[in-house]
Amino acid sequence: MAKGAVLEKPNSKDALTDWTAEEVMELRQKHVLPSTLTYYTKPLMISRAEGAYLFDEKGKKYLDAFAGVVTISIGHCHPHWVKRIQDQIATFDHSTTLYLYPQLVEYAQKLVKMVKTANPALEVCFFTNSGCEANELAAILSKNYTGRSEFIALRHSFHGRTLMAMSFTGQSIWRHSTPYVFGVYHAPANYTYRRSEGNTAKQYAQWCAEEVGEIIKYSTSGKIAAYIAEPISGFGGVIDPEPEYFPKVYEIVKKHGGLFIADEVQTGVGRTGKKFLGIEQWGVRPDIVTMAKGIGNGYPLGAVVTTREIAESMRGKVHFNTFGGSPVAMAAGLAVLEVLEKEKLSQNAFEVGGYLKDKLSKMMEKQPLIGDVRGKGLMLGVELVKDRKTKEPAPQELLKVMDYAKEGGVLIGKGGMSQNIIRIKPPLCVTKKDADVIAEVLEDSFRRVK
Ligand SMILES: Cc1ncc(COP(=O)(O)O)c(C=O)c1O
Repeated sequence: MAKGAVLEKPNSKDALTDWTAEEVMELRQKHVLPSTLTYYTKPLMISRAEGAYLFDEKGKKYLDAFAGVVTISIGHCHPHWVKRIQDQIATFDHSTTLYLYPQLVEYAQKLVKMVKTANPALEVCFFTNSGCEANELAAILSKNYTGRSEFIALRHSFHGRTLMAMSFTGQSIWRHSTPYVFGVYHAPANYTYRRSEGNTAKQYAQWCAEEVGEIIKYSTSGKIAAYIAEPISGFGGVIDPEPEYFPKVYEIVKKHGGLFIADEVQTGVGRTGKKFLGIEQWGVRPDIVTMAKGIGNGYPLGAVVTTREIAESMRGKVHFNTFGGSPVAMAAGLAVLEVLEKEKLSQNAFEVGGYLKDKLSKMMEKQPLIGDVRGKGLMLGVELVKDRKTKEPAPQELLKVMDYAKEGGVLIGKGGMSQNIIRIKPPLCVTKKDADVIAEVLEDSFRRVK
């Protein structure tokens, strides 16, 4: 068997490859940019994936509660998704938008239908390969439409690793190699758990929203192109704003003539439960929506959806993306939406997510390491603190929890400025039984840290 070949029909006892994790790590250190990180004291090697599960090279099964950084939506290697991609690649592999092909419009039509529930005026798409490319285009659209160039983004946010996306990002750990694009100002995130003392959650939400107006007043020319936010922050550690926050911000942004951009790269595709887009949980109508990750379920696919009026500001100006909207990407995207509907996965995210959140919240009674449990649907965060009174972050303890959870067969993510927030964002197909496993393994890991 050639080095790296995968056994055709492995059973749980077979090794899935003749590579060892150590060999792969050694070559990675030699040939891959050193800033690509790995999780765990002993990095994990993956050889196979199915549904909500990953398998290492020795065949050990893990519940993938981080879904490839919130990318697997309908489940790993879903048969319908695999078939659609295989059929497409076998008949018509690649073209650019220089030619006509039905796959592009078929997918655009379907995506628009789902996004429209957030704002009926959203009807024009452009496809990219990633979230940062989508955010770059959202910025270009905002500048073209408004004739302005200043933006408000949020502290604790993450929007990608291209120049504009890094400028939008509100975390110093992701803002090295400056200077970036000028004209982006960061407003406070509605981080209720870490609000200033003496404020109710509602008062703090009101203050955070009003700060957007103050920043526009004092730090910009008074005229912004757009405000951009993740409805619930991803890398920032599942900051889940209060119900009042986004409606109030929307009002302020509109008062100043800006556009509202919802970065749905993590929150889209039903992840927050019941709704297709995360921002729908707050009932505000975004002018531009950016998506990636879950819409491709692992196939590189990003999208921008906007209104006809905003899109028209680009008429006569060329925009192009070699792979954006390729027939295979469109087939992958269409398969995701079909499965999402057929298997009612956003409803499942609501039910299983709520069930798991309850379990995690109850765990707080016995586990003092847990400072806060938050999030919506299957976008959950557990903030770890050394002391509930001081709220001192507990990043070292989190690393131990991650290692123990891995031993117990559950993979989780981490995030936040202090890297002390557990991120639980499994594929949307997980069951209540899977949620029980996640909760049991986490509780056991917390006990072992103690
Ligand atoms: C909210 C959000 N926006 C944008 C991006 C950038 O997406 P990509 O890595 O596909 O460029 C990410 C990536 O994690 C993200 O979480």
